[in-house]
Amino acid sequence: MNTVPKLKLDRSMEMYEEAKKLSPGGLMGIRRPYNFVEGEYPIFIERGYGGHIVDVDGNDYIDMLCAYGPIILGYNEPEINDAVKEQLEKGFCFSLVQEVQNTLSQRLIDLIPSAEMVVLAKTGSDVTSIAVRIARAYNGKNKILRCGYHGWHDWCVEVHGGVPQAILDLTVEFPYGDLDALEATLKEHGDDAACIIITPVGHPLAAPVVAPPEGYLKGVRELADKYETILIFDEIRTGFRVALGGAQERYNVTPDISVFGKAMANGYPISACVGKTEFMKVLEKQAFVSSTFFPNSLEMVASMKCIDILQRENVMDAVWERGTTFMNEMTRLVEESQVPASTSGIPPMPFITFEKADDQYKQRRTFFYTETIRRGLFIQPYHHGYICHRHTDEDLKNALGAIEEALKATHKAYPLKK
Ligand SMILES: Cc1ncc(COP(=O)(O)O)c(C=O)c1O
Repeated sequence: MNTVPKLKLDRSMEMYEEAKKLSPGGLMGIRRPYNFVEGEYPIFIERGYGGHIVDVDGNDYIDMLCAYGPIILGYNEPEINDAVKEQLEKGFCFSLVQEVQNTLSQRLIDLIPSAEMVVLAKTGSDVTSIAVRIARAYNGKNKILRCGYHGWHDWCVEVHGGVPQAILDLTVEFPYGDLDALEATLKEHGDDAACIIITPVGHPLAAPVVAPPEGYLKGVRELADKYETILIFDEIRTGFRVALGGAQERYNVTPDISVFGKAMANGYPISACVGKTEFMKVLEKQAFVSSTFFPNSLEMVASMKCIDILQRENVMDAVWERGTTFMNEMTRLVEESQVPASTSGIPPMPFITFEKADDQYKQRRTFFYTETIRRGLFIQPYHHGYICHRHTDEDLKNALGAIEEALKATHKAYPLKK
């Protein structure tokens, strides 16, 4: 029924069978095949270049998932490679720290509106957890009001196996974009709300990506102040992608604490928790955070070089501009296709959501994402995509071409039943 032949994925599948014997599920979390289209997507990647990835069977794709966000420039950036190699020669893992910790921290303070002090860690989950620890240590309250995905640690994990109910009870979810709902939640837990942690752009799994409605983030800021709780922006996805100072700069609302990761070093594992001195200082005595690998410097050097390039090539504006053209064109294609779907997102983070228009919507979605991967476009059915700087105009044109053809085939195979 599909209109283009299935990709040859033999080596990926062999490796997957091997992986399942070695590791639970073969691979972890959102990279598992059921998060794509099983049997149609590659599982093992050989290499990446520019805006492309090549799998172990030699298939080449335009990659618009960008490693789930870290790739803001492109794969295999020569200048970053050189900077990292230079640091390798000096060494990067010591019992003490290296000077680049200061230079990178100062750089973040210069760029990010809420940053007066910085702690550097490795993953997004590290820093969202550090941020809530700071909040709890600062005000002695217990509850965390959350909105969005914040990682895998006990206080925020979505699958609750292995987490004591007593911990889950201290985290309360509120819906994105609804100030009344947030105020009601604050009223209910106000006395004990240590912090509000929110992704400034709403991006729930498999659902439309929501740019902040007019006045929303400002309203969240005001509610945090009114109920005397700490406001944390989780900028793991928006940091170094929507503006150098993050969504807080673009939308002009300053949180108390904010966290960055993913794109800050174009793929190297580094994250940062930044905030006002008053809050950050609790890490001097009251609260403890440490890890063997936090001071490792390769990723700090990579981050410095990445930020150099982001500034020099004005990447944030370029990505926003090209993303706008891409989104407009994608929206036109979706609308003209008569496929019950819609586009959402902000220009650097586009997504196509399939509407639950009839009882075939899941098959329709699977069909569409099968057609796109077979045409060499790597996007994900349940997660928004990303535009990176090294996607060429031709890559973006070809991506739109794949989307257009896949939509046509989808409409033919799964016309909307009225
Ligand atoms: C908004 C947000 N916060 C936190 C995290 C957790 O980051 P990490 O996977 O690096 O632990 C993610 C990861 O996708 C994220 O998207």
